Amino acid sequence: MHPLLLSKIKEELESIEDISQGLLKVCELIHSEMEAYDWVGFYFMHHPSRKLHLGPYVGAPTDHTLIDFGKGICGQVAESGNSFLVEDVNAQSNYIACSIDVKSEIVVPLYQNGELIAQIDIDSHLINRFQAEDEQFLVAVNELLAQRYSELSRYIDTLI
Ligand code: SME
Repeated sequence: MHPLLLSKIKEELESIEDISQGLLKVCELIHSEMEAYDWVGFYFMHHPSRKLHLGPYVGAPTDHTLIDFGKGICGQVAESGNSFLVEDVNAQSNYIACSIDVKSEIVVPLYQNGELIAQIDIDSHLINRFQAEDEQFLVAVNELLAQRYSELSRYIDTLI
């Protein structure tokens, strides 16, 4: 489950106090080190308005900076609280297309102190790119972030 990369992420985060910079560093590391992780970003939940707000990301700019709960893969994860692995995005009816190059996607929820606060979203230009191993890796990445930044659950306030 990529223990070396997880160690590297943990080590890098130790010296980064700023949450935005820490989230961006995670995006940069996994975008560059994981094959065909072509877009990597975080969405944070705003529960009162039931909207997801885009946080730091690496990859092509996206128009989807604000997503309603229930809409698209990300919005469905906001409601279910469970990871969503999409083999072929073109086979999904409830999907928000960012680019015609994207073929598969994974969204993994981020919990802090039992509360669903965010999600990591990865798009790939390869079909069926994401497996259970990727999910386990991304769960571990999200856990590292939740442990490193005790204020992460309040990060949404900087995005709204
Ligand atoms: N495809 C996502 C939207 C976000 S972009 O991938 C950056 C979805 O269906 O929720």
